[in-house]
This record gives sequence, structure tokens and C-alpha cells, in this order.
Amino acid sequence: MTTWIPDVGASTDPIYLAIAKAIMADVATGRLKPGDRLPPQRELARELNVSIGTVTRGYIEAARRGVTRGKSGRGTIVRDTAAERPDSRLRVGPGTELVDLGTNLPIHGEHPDLSKAFAGLAHQEGVSRLLRYQAPQEDPRYLAAGGKWIRESGLNVDPGSVVIAAGAQHAVMVTLGALTEPGDLVFADELTCPALFEVAQLLRLRVQGIVMDDVGMRPDALLAACRQRNGQALYCMPTVQNPTSAILTAERRRELAEVAREYDLLVIEDEVHRHLAPDAPQPISEIVPERGFFIAGLSKAVAPGLRVAYVAAPPFARDKLKDAVAASLVMVSPLPLELATMWIEDGTASRTADRKRAEAEARQLIAREILGSYSYRAFATAYNILLDLPQEWKAGEFANEARRRGVAIAPAAAFAVPGCQPPEAVRISLGGAENRPQLRDALKVIAKILADGAPCRCTRM
Ligand SMILES: Cc1ncc(COP(=O)(O)O)c(C=O)c1O
Repeated sequence: MTTWIPDVGASTDPIYLAIAKAIMADVATGRLKPGDRLPPQRELARELNVSIGTVTRGYIEAARRGVTRGKSGRGTIVRDTAAERPDSRLRVGPGTELVDLGTNLPIHGEHPDLSKAFAGLAHQEGVSRLLRYQAPQEDPRYLAAGGKWIRESGLNVDPGSVVIAAGAQHAVMVTLGALTEPGDLVFADELTCPALFEVAQLLRLRVQGIVMDDVGMRPDALLAACRQRNGQALYCMPTVQNPTSAILTAERRRELAEVAREYDLLVIEDEVHRHLAPDAPQPISEIVPERGFFIAGLSKAVAPGLRVAYVAAPPFARDKLKDAVAASLVMVSPLPLELATMWIEDGTASRTADRKRAEAEARQLIAREILGSYSYRAFATAYNILLDLPQEWKAGEFANEARRRGVAIAPAAAFAVPGCQPPEAVRISLGGAENRPQLRDALKVIAKILADGAPCRCTRM
């Protein structure tokens, strides 16, 4: 769109700020639409009779406020924030009024008491050792804590099989980084955790989506994909899948394991949500231990700021994974690892996970109360729901509308493996609200949008 000229005449702001504010106002009213290109800076400077520097500053300010982005060779574009993948660098910050139900947040209000833990640490003898270089991967105490956490997450392991990583995403990265080559193919659910896309992009891996049904990934579809193309790994979330909250049945797990064994796939079993369904069936890694990498994270069960996760890895891969951890960050940071270890040892970690599950259950009931007349996928103790939108809505537009009314949510496209057609659905993270009243208000906003219906321009032909 090159005909857009901002209305800055009446503004008392400095002109650069008036330009930025005009861009924001026009995005809010729909005069500027996602994907629209702003006029070249030189052209706009001429139109407004100001210097190019003033326009540049205005464009920079609009980008800083998150409504535009520069694309090399394409000028400045209005961002389609709803269709973009949730970006960890774009979290809702202080000073904004958005309620962030777009990020998979694990109910911050239920984190363990950090001051109490620090007070305990302060009295530990030799605590300054935590500031030194060290070898946590060889420390029997840290490995024992990792083993305990993995066992509490459903897989029976001994500490010798544990590799410590800086969060589940890092665990996925070091596993794939250590055991695949650029260009290799990873199979994943057709709607999957966006962390996989970031890792695959970094490692130059290809990802192929596998068709899912209500239970999760379909083994016959995985088999068909394996017959067609030579894949190296399967990435899956058997328990409370992100974003569908599906839980693979025992039979599905066995069938997927059989295909993985037949086609020699590594199985990366991301079980960060296992605490939300502790009675889920046997892990796939127990069925195919020779190829299973079971990831038990602490981010969703205890606190994401810890950046600690554990991988139970088969013998052939343990040293390779440890080398990949060392290559990527020398060592997992000892201070949070010490906290994680203390909390696993004294039971704080599992009690926190239980509290979060109970709070998630209460929040699911609130969702049921407010959105119960609409169709959505969820599990009774999951952090998220995946809301199927009525026919007249496109998910990106719905998410834009919710954002406009103060609630961030994520369209299903953010989770779709390239080449897979996402449903017109949005993931709503119930864990993102600070408390139940805030969640209730935010969900009422969503319900109101649904009740209002799509504006005419959204009606599909
Ligand atoms: C399934 C899944 N795996 C991994 C991650 C990333 O976890 P971490 O913060 O431990 O890196 C997320 C975050 O939302 C997730 O949903």
C-alpha cells in the first residue's frame, strides 16, 4: 500500500512521534492492514514536507512499539502479529494492558518460594562454589536429582542415563544437534510446539507434519511418511500435547514405537506436561529404550526461569549429548541447577507440580463455564484449550480482534508444520492469567467476540 499518508496535522507531538502514533491508530482501525507496506521514507518525507530523518525516526518508533517490521528489499511492513509464531522475545511487558493468554505459561502464581530458597542457600557452607566453572554432568547429586525427577515424570531410569540441559527446548536442540546432520528430516505432529521450528531452523533440519486425530499422532500416517521419505527422528509430546492437549493411548504409543523401531527413528519424547496427567500410559522411551530420549522439564511443572530439564538418553548417545551441552553453553548454570536440585530433593518440585495441576483444573472449569457452549479441545488439567472457531472467523483475524480488545491468544497457524493446513482455531493459555478473576475477565472478552460474530469483511465466500 503506497497511498497511505498519515494524518499528523492536528497532533501536538513531535512529528516523528505523530507519525508513529498515526501508524498505530490506523492499524487499530484497520485502515492499515497486516502485510501493508508503508510508503518509502523519502516519498513520505516529501509528502509531509519533513526531513527523511524524521520519517525514519517515526518508522523506528512504530517498529519499537511492535506494529511494523522492516524487511530487506521490501521496506516497512505492517506486522501480522497474530499469524506470527509466539515469539519469546515479544512477551507482553509491563505498561501494556494485554493479558497474555498467547504463551504457554505455567501459572506463575504457583511458583516455589524463591526468598525462602535463597535464605536456605545463604546458610549453605561453601555456597560460593556455585559461581565457579564445574562439571554438573558428572556430579552424582545433580544426576540423582535428575533421575528422581524423570522417575516422577513416569520413566524408570537410573542416574547414569541422565543428561542435564538448560530447559526442554535446549534438550531438544542438543539431542537433534548431536545426532542429526543438516538436511535431515524430523517427523512431528502436524500441529506441534513452536520450539521445534526454532531448533530445526537453527540446525537446518526439515520437519514433516504427521496427521493427527483426537488421540494425537496417527501411526498409519507416520508409517506412510516413513515409506515415502527417509526420516531420522520423531519428535512427539505423548502426554498433554501442545497445542491440542491430546494424550496418546497405550496402544498408540506402542504402534508409534513399532514404526520408529522399524524405520530406525530416534524418538524425542517431550514430556514437559507429564505432571498434568500423571496417570498417562507408559512412556514410548520405555518401549524403545535403545532410541528413546525422554525429556522431563521443570519449566511447566516448577518454574521456567530455572532453565533446567533432564534427558534420559540411551547409552550410545549420552556423551554426545553432554558434548553438545558443553558446546552450546559450557555448563548448565549451577545456581538454578542447585535450586532445582534442592526442590527435587525436598519434594518442593513435586508439590509445586501438584499445585499447578490443581490450579489448571480449576481454570479449566472456568473455561467450561464461560466457553462451554463452543467447541474446543482440552484436557481436564491442561494449561491450554484449543478453541475451534465458528465458520465465519479466520483464526488470524480472531486473534487480532482479541488482541485489540486486550487479550493475546495464538492462532493454530503458529503451531502448524509448514505445508500442513492449520484449522481455524486458537490456542488459549489458561495459565497466562495472573489469577482466576483476570482469567474470567479475559475469557469473557473471548466469549463476547464470539457472540458478536465476525465483522462482514471476515465472512468467507
Ligand atoms: C511441549 C513443550 N516443550 C518444550 C517447551 C519449552 O520448554 P522450556 O522452557 O523448558 O525450554 C514448551 C514451552 O512452551 C513446550 O510447550
